[in-house]
Amino acid sequence: MKRSLTYKILEKNLLSGNLIEGNEISIKVNQTLTQDSTGTMVYLQLESMGVKHIKTDLSVAYIDHNTLQSGFENADDHEFIKSAAAKYGIIFSKPGNGICHQLHLERFGKPSDVLIGSDSHTPTGGGLGMLSIGSGGLDVAVAMANGYYYMKAPKILNIELSGKLKPWVSAKDVILFILKELSVKGGVGYIVEYSGEGVKELSVTDRATITNMGAELGATTSIFPSDDITKDFLKRQGREKDFKYLFADDNALYDKKVKIDLSDIKPMTAMPHSPDNVALVREIKNLKVDQVAIGSCTNSSYTDLMKVAKILKGKRVHPDVSLVISPGSSNILRMMSDNGALGDLISAGARIIEAACGPCIGMGQAPKTDAISLRTFNRNFKGRCGTKSADVYLVSPETAAVSAIFGYLADPSTFGDMPRVEIPDKFDVYDNYFIYPPKNRDNLEVVMGPNIKPFPINRELKSSLKGRVLLKMKDNITTDDIMPSNAKLLPYRSNIPELSKYCFGTVVDDFYKIAQKNDGGFVIGGENYGQGSSREHAALVPLYLGIKGVIAKSFARIHKNNLINSGIIPLVFKNKENYNKFDEFDELELENIMEALDNNLEINLINKTKNIDVKLIFQGSEREIEILKCGGYLNYAKNLNKD
Ligand code: F3S
Repeated sequence: MKRSLTYKILEKNLLSGNLIEGNEISIKVNQTLTQDSTGTMVYLQLESMGVKHIKTDLSVAYIDHNTLQSGFENADDHEFIKSAAAKYGIIFSKPGNGICHQLHLERFGKPSDVLIGSDSHTPTGGGLGMLSIGSGGLDVAVAMANGYYYMKAPKILNIELSGKLKPWVSAKDVILFILKELSVKGGVGYIVEYSGEGVKELSVTDRATITNMGAELGATTSIFPSDDITKDFLKRQGREKDFKYLFADDNALYDKKVKIDLSDIKPMTAMPHSPDNVALVREIKNLKVDQVAIGSCTNSSYTDLMKVAKILKGKRVHPDVSLVISPGSSNILRMMSDNGALGDLISAGARIIEAACGPCIGMGQAPKTDAISLRTFNRNFKGRCGTKSADVYLVSPETAAVSAIFGYLADPSTFGDMPRVEIPDKFDVYDNYFIYPPKNRDNLEVVMGPNIKPFPINRELKSSLKGRVLLKMKDNITTDDIMPSNAKLLPYRSNIPELSKYCFGTVVDDFYKIAQKNDGGFVIGGENYGQGSSREHAALVPLYLGIKGVIAKSFARIHKNNLINSGIIPLVFKNKENYNKFDEFDELELENIMEALDNNLEINLINKTKNIDVKLIFQGSEREIEILKCGGYLNYAKNLNKD
């Protein structure tokens, strides 16, 4: 059998199941990562599982999302995660050290390892040839507790790259080009594997930009081979010992193939409000820009920021533009400070903010009313930047820097000669922001400040569920729509009762009151329900509000897992047209759920208000059925770590 990169790694790490596409398998997890926004829940879950020692080779708890400390809440969360990391044997990355994915790529990622992270952009590690999957926090807690992860043996989409990038065109333009071709649903159900001569034209950080935004394609993850370029990257990071070659077999089997000539790609932008609403930069004329934000886990590498510094050197940021730059890691910031590039950015008029997610997660730097904001980030959903009326355009660092000078969206190739960035032979690596766990951890306790509240736990599934349709949603509802995330709400990531007041806040006012008044109920969704981030809160908060089931045309993968993990049953219409037969406040009953789940039958949904019934399907494995029956993964997993 001719094996792809993914199947080679899966074969190496396989613990149970047959490695045949569509089968559920369990694999050994080598590494995990968490960020603070999802991490508080992960460590609360780990606590409640009664775990003594984690079973992964390496786990890291990063603080990069909620770094503003305008009240005690975020600091409480940081302290809680720090104490949990010490107790369980996890490396802790202090706030200010950088963005989890950029840091993980630099410091810990290993070709051909399996990494599970509680962040949807965990696939960034695919740039190093690591199988890096974003998942719900509970999956990550279980991976740490038990050392394994369940998934379906995936379909593989091969993207074969040929040719060379033209000057001023970079990795961000490549992934925007792919998003234009394939859309935000183009990768659903697939792992994307890159191959071809064009791969040799891309550095590890270029590759990581591309795999990072594979999340926006809806792909489970994306991965590049591990080759001499990977070896060179690890050597410069002082980690050559972590290198391994990894190539797909010649003529490996793929489920789908796409060919892209890199020389066809021009500077691109994703227009509001979706990463696949892509156009050529030069097609958009006279777009005056108010804010330019450079950074995020997509584009904050040393090379990205050095390119920006070279473009800005000796120039001036346009008087009407606020340029904010957040480096990916403290090491990058330090190196740019030492080599003078930081001075060039400051002299040009850039605002330098700490090495963290920052504006990407709405942690400050919300643009003004009706602003046009150019961002090198990966998402431009409405309101994510913190200003509902702002329009966000996603661009490459080159386009962002040149536009910041001109004051309008500009094709960077009009700027002159492209700057060359020399990569240092050896990166300066300082570990002072990392806290390694102590050897003797026997008597350590976790520290829980007043902002840490217990999380909701479901009861066992009943065979019949009744309730009203509390909300009917359109296609492509994001986890940002379900559980908004902004600077005001982020401090409450470990306080579900407070957070619940904002559930579906971008769609409807006071949803929590509707849910409370009706004693919970159902949500009806369109296609790709729950796309976007891995935000577990988008399931935990609805659970707290008594949501019993979500019935949709289709689900985004991670969100469907999160619903199952919370014990909320996700069901799809057998006939999608039946979506039209439901309205808000219709009274529903799901019948004979257990029998249907046990025997792989359709589930009958009665709309009592309209006196009709329709058929629904549960799309999940036997293990997921067991999880639902237990009322969620936590109840199911509590006994697993006793093995
Ligand atoms: Fe952070 Fe934004 Fe990436 S929130 S992890 S920089 S998508």
